[in-house]
Amino acid sequence: MLVILKRDNEEVNEQAAQLIAGAIRKKPSLTLGLATGNTMVGLYQHLVRLHQAGLLDFSEVKTFNLDEYLGLPGSHRQSFQHFMHENFFRHVNVPPPNIHIPDGSIRGHYEVYCASYEQSIRAAGGIDLQLLGIGRNGHIGFNEPTSSLASRTRLKVLSRETLDDNAKFFGPAEGPSCAITMGIGTILEARRVLLLATGASKAAAVAKSIEGPITCAVSASALQLHPDVTFVLDEPAAAQLTQRDYYHRVLQMTALLTPERLS
Ligand code: F6R
Repeated sequence: MLVILKRDNEEVNEQAAQLIAGAIRKKPSLTLGLATGNTMVGLYQHLVRLHQAGLLDFSEVKTFNLDEYLGLPGSHRQSFQHFMHENFFRHVNVPPPNIHIPDGSIRGHYEVYCASYEQSIRAAGGIDLQLLGIGRNGHIGFNEPTSSLASRTRLKVLSRETLDDNAKFFGPAEGPSCAITMGIGTILEARRVLLLATGASKAAAVAKSIEGPITCAVSASALQLHPDVTFVLDEPAAAQLTQRDYYHRVLQMTALLTPERLS
């Protein structure tokens, strides 16, 4: 587990963009797992800038988004499909057939649909690099606390904490109560995982995920089982970690001995 400590949001975005761009340059046909949410907005801006400067080509990249709200058509302003289009896809050259986002408008036959999403990931050769944010309750994707650590893509009921966090986006009408999400088992099969967290509201979840016990009460703690995870954190999100000096030293040695892990 590599923990990269950065000063602020901007530095986190820059570092994450550098890691993703490096992975695409090494493997132009990279299969990239994508996330939505506030944390990702600045990162996508960085990637778009690299593309527009002619420094990053997505023409062979395949993408799979982690999740989507159930009951929202892609045209809904709060759908993740809309988020991805506005913040990323309309500015870069990922070919539309290479873009996969769970369809929140399906009705019924959920298991069949979710199994077909997993099958598309397998058919694409598996996810090379999975991007993640983290919820205040430690969720990754919409794997809310008590999700099975072996879970696969499925329907998930959103926790009260997530509903409260979403209230600001959906106005007085309560937002969707369920989502389709990749499972923790699905995420753990990605070859490499990159988790970004910024802001003090994530500090407790980050500390539990990195330094706490592996538990279904904190879904992101399952990442301790993954052999190639990088956390990129700003100072407020890292504030409750007890081993920050050690992470700094590991980073210095990584830059010296295996710099390819940082680019
Ligand atoms: C979104 C997702 C979620 C978010 C998490 C953090 O696709 O999978 O797990 O990453 O809720 O969201 P923000 O960044 O808005 O705090």
